Amino acid sequence: MIKVGVFGVGHLGKFHLNNWKAMEGVELVGFYDPFDANAEKVEKDYQLKRFANPQDLVSLCDAVDIVAPTPQHFELCELVIKKGKHVFVEKPLASTMEEAKEIVKLARESGIKLQVGHIERFNPALLALKEMSLQPMFIEVHRLAQFNPRGTEVSVILDLMIHDIDIILNMVKSDIRSISANGVAVMTDTPDIANVRIEFHNGCVANLTSSRISMKKMRKMRLFQKDAYIGIDFLEKKAEIIKMQSGDKLPGEFNFDIETPSGKRTIAIANPIVPAENAMFLELQAFIDAIKLNKPTLVNEMHGYQSMEVAHQILQKIQRNQPVA
Ligand SMILES: NC(=O)c1ccc[n+]([C@@H]2O[C@H](COP(=O)([O-])OP(=O)(O)OC[C@H]3O[C@@H](n4cnc5c(N)ncnc54)[C@H](O)[C@@H]3O)[C@@H](O)[C@H]2O)c1
Repeated sequence: MIKVGVFGVGHLGKFHLNNWKAMEGVELVGFYDPFDANAEKVEKDYQLKRFANPQDLVSLCDAVDIVAPTPQHFELCELVIKKGKHVFVEKPLASTMEEAKEIVKLARESGIKLQVGHIERFNPALLALKEMSLQPMFIEVHRLAQFNPRGTEVSVILDLMIHDIDIILNMVKSDIRSISANGVAVMTDTPDIANVRIEFHNGCVANLTSSRISMKKMRKMRLFQKDAYIGIDFLEKKAEIIKMQSGDKLPGEFNFDIETPSGKRTIAIANPIVPAENAMFLELQAFIDAIKLNKPTLVNEMHGYQSMEVAHQILQKIQRNQPVA
C-alpha cells in the first residue's frame, strides 16, 4: 500500500481526491489546505482527515500530491523532498526558473520519484496514436479557454501553453533553433493571449496560439509530416489521420483516389479508436507504478524544467516586443 497525502484541495485537488479514492494499492492518508471554509467542506464530503500543518501529513506518507497554486509549489516540493518522500506536483513545476532548478537539484540528490502533472501526455486522443510514428515537420496548435481568475497567478504561457510545449518537446527529437513570440495582457498583468513560433534544428516549425480570454474552448494540435496529416483534439478526445496509402491499412481506414502531377495516388483516412480512459487516473497511476516498480516517472523533473525553460524564453521574447512607454 502506498500512503498518499494531498496538499491543496481546491478545484483540481478535488478531482485528484476522487482518483486517489478509486485507485487500488493506495491509501489516502489525508490532506492539508489552509483555506478553512473549503477544507472543512472537503473533510466532511470526502470523510478525509484534514491536517493542521503540512509537516505532520508528510511524516505519515510515502508520497505527496501537490495541487496548491503554482507560487506555493517550490516551498511544498522542498518540504516533501527534504523528508525523502515522493512528489507528484501539478504543472507548471514552479513559478520561476530558480525555483525549478532547485527542485531538480533536490530531487536528484534525494533520489525520490517526482512527476509533473503534464496531464495531456495521458490524454486518450494522444494515446490512440501510440502505434504511429509521429515525426512532424509543421505543428499548428490552438489551446483556447474562457476567462477564469483561477490560474492567473501565472501567464497564459505557464498556465495553458506549457501543456503543448511539453508534448512538442517530447515529440520533436531536436534542439530548438529559434523562438519568436508575441502576447498581450488583456485581463491580468501577464500575457493572456499569445502566439509563438518555435523553429527546431531538424527543420520542424511549431506555431502555437494560447488564449485564456476566448469565447469558446478549443484544444487542437495538427501535425503535418511526410505523407501524413494527424489531427488531435484534446478536448473532444478525438484523433484523425489522413495519409498517402502505403500498404499497411489503419483500422477502419477509408480510401479514395486523387490525381496528382505525378499520377494517381490513394488517400487513406482513419479515425483511430480512442480508449475510454481518464487521463488523470492514468497519470496518477503511472506515478504510483513508478514508485512501486522503482522505475523513472514518465514526466519527470527534467521534463518539467525543460518546458519551463522554453516558457520563460517565450515570456522574455514577449517582453522585448512590448511597446516602450
Ligand atoms: N494539469 C492541469 O491541466 C491543471 C488544470 C488546472 C490547474 N492545474 C494546476 O493545479 C494547481 C492548483 O490549481 P486549482 O485550479 O486547483 O487552484 P485552486 O485555487 O482552485 O486550488 C488551490 C488550493 O490550494 C490551497 N492552498 C493554498 N496554499 C496552500 C498551501 N501552502 N498548501 C496547501 N494548499 C494550499 C488553496 O486554499 C486552494 O484550496 C495549480 O498549480 C494549477 O496550475 C493544473
